Amino acid sequence: MACFGIFIISLMTSLVTCQMVHQQTTADLQQCVANLACSFDYKSEFQAKLDNATRHLELELELLRHQTGSLVAPLQNEIRQLQANQSNEITYANQVLGRVLAEQAYDREYLRNITQGLYILNNDFHRENLIRYQDVHRLVLELNEARSNISTLGALVEALITASANSTLIAQIAAIQGGVSGGAHTGVVCTAKDSEILELRSNLTYFMNAYASEQKLIEMIRNRETMLQSEVERLQSNLSQALSVNHIKDNLIINLQNQLKAALANAPASLPAPGTCVSALGMQSGAIPNSALSASAYQPGYGPEKSRLNDSTGWFTPERATSQDFLQIDTGSQHYITKVATQGGICCDVMVTNYTLSYSNDGVHWKEYTKDCVKQFLTGNSDQSTVVEHTLDTPIIARYIRFHVVDYRKTGASNYVGMRVELYGCAKN
Ligand SMILES: *[C@@H]1O[C@H](CO)[C@@H](O)[C@H](O)[C@H]1NC(C)=O
Ligand SMILES: *[C@@H]1O[C@H](CO)[C@@H](O)[C@H](O)[C@H]1NC(C)=O
Ligand SMILES: *[C@@H]1O[C@H](CO)[C@@H](O)[C@H](O)[C@H]1NC(C)=O
Ligand SMILES: *[C@@H]1O[C@H](CO)[C@@H](O)[C@H](O)[C@H]1NC(C)=O
Ligand SMILES: *[C@@H]1O[C@H](CO)[C@@H](O)[C@H](O)[C@H]1NC(C)=O
Ligand SMILES: *[C@@H]1O[C@H](CO)[C@@H](O)[C@H](O)[C@H]1NC(C)=O
Ligand SMILES: *[C@@H]1O[C@H](CO)[C@@H](O)[C@H](O)[C@H]1NC(C)=O
Ligand SMILES: *[C@@H]1O[C@H](CO)[C@@H](O)[C@H](O)[C@H]1NC(C)=O
Ligand SMILES: *[C@@H]1O[C@H](CO)[C@@H](O)[C@H](O)[C@H]1NC(C)=O
Repeated sequence: MACFGIFIISLMTSLVTCQMVHQQTTADLQQCVANLACSFDYKSEFQAKLDNATRHLELELELLRHQTGSLVAPLQNEIRQLQANQSNEITYANQVLGRVLAEQAYDREYLRNITQGLYILNNDFHRENLIRYQDVHRLVLELNEARSNISTLGALVEALITASANSTLIAQIAAIQGGVSGGAHTGVVCTAKDSEILELRSNLTYFMNAYASEQKLIEMIRNRETMLQSEVERLQSNLSQALSVNHIKDNLIINLQNQLKAALANAPASLPAPGTCVSALGMQSGAIPNSALSASAYQPGYGPEKSRLNDSTGWFTPERATSQDFLQIDTGSQHYITKVATQGGICCDVMVTNYTLSYSNDGVHWKEYTKDCVKQFLTGNSDQSTVVEHTLDTPIIARYIRFHVVDYRKTGASNYVGMRVELYGCAKN
């Protein structure tokens, strides 16, 4: 619009100038009219250019809108999913924690119940003990009295037995009986003595039996006492066991809470935005030093230091490559690995056609690169020079990366593998 405005002004200026020169020569006038025609030509060309430029800008704008739309939607979707997944994990962890806490509350109640049961049993035990003690005391008193009665009776019986065997006494009695009543009472006296003896004997037996049965009763009470005692001991041992189990569960909860905290702290805040973490990490450039490269094995002269993308030879496995063969790269610190690239070896038609990745943060514990928990096989090379790249759906976050040979081109007698690689991504911090 501004350009068009300038054009109008210049046209107006030309017209004014023409009027001003009107009084001058015809040649001047002709020149002026030619200039005016020129200005009109210029106007239409200018307008066409303006239209072309506007159309071009509009197309570019449309294209940009389209590209932005197709970039933003999946990004937003991924962010939404990440947020949902993280909150799912937290919800799950909280559920586990809740279950553990509920279990602990149950255990505490169980413990309280046991303690209360123990307390009641202890009271019962003491009450019963007291009653038994009173019973025993009473029985002992009776027993002592019975014992003294038995010894009194025993002495009496002894005396009577002796008396019944005293011939002098019998003769005297017989003389008295004969003298007084002609022996009519002899039988009566003897019978009375005999029956008294019999009665005493029977009383003696009775007391002896009572004594024995009381002793049995006392023994029974003692047994019951022992039983109660061992029950109390068992309860006390169960109680201490329950207390220690509770202690272990407390520790477990603290442990779980710490693990949850650590998991939340370690959860990646956000993955690098697509397209922002794609630099070559330095295989080809040499930024990754030779000392960071190693391999399961290699042909002499074709070691892991030759495994750099576009190297003049490549890393070669020994004859008879196996699925145990791997190339290892230490990136020096934790990195996001967003893409990998491979090439074959430089000669002899040797190349890895199929490979897997694994990664580690300490060089000791390794994890396989997976997608949705399924190990991923990556297509390798089908000629010696073409670079084959794979963008990783989920970036690997690790310091160490391994390329594992799964399959390779087998040609002629040679049975080894050549490989050159590059890693792409960015440092994690
Ligand atoms: C405008 O674009 C058309 C078609 O692309 C082209 O033929 C023409 O030369 C362009 N005009 C100018 C003034 O650039
Ligand atoms: C979210 O979880 C689902 C199911 O576990 C998984 O398929 C998806 O890749 C996850 N998305 C992100 C962004 O982690
Ligand atoms: C504790 O005792 C109460 C009352 O007898 C009972 O309802 C509850 O189920 C017991 N709890 C446990 C955990 O044993
Ligand atoms: C012991 O003898 C006395 C007197 O004969 C009697 O009163 C008491 O009941 C007796 N005791 C027992 C335990 O038989
Ligand atoms: C037998 O009885 C007589 C008369 O009572 C008495 O003097 C005597 O000591 C008794 N003998 C014995 C061995 O008890
Ligand atoms: C024997 O026992 C009975 C019943 O306890 C009692 O009546 C009696 O007097 C006792 N006899 C003697 C000789 O002690
Ligand atoms: C003590 O614990 C054992 C095993 O846990 C159980 O069999 C026993 O019944 C318990 N004893 C008491 C008195 O609660
Ligand atoms: C690496 O080699 C490939 C194949 O020869 C070639 O296309 C590519 O340009 C090379 N890359 C660099 C950075 O030299
Ligand atoms: C790689 O090897 C695995 C295991 O043998 C196989 O399942 C997969 O299809 C192979 N992939 C390619 C691209 O050859």
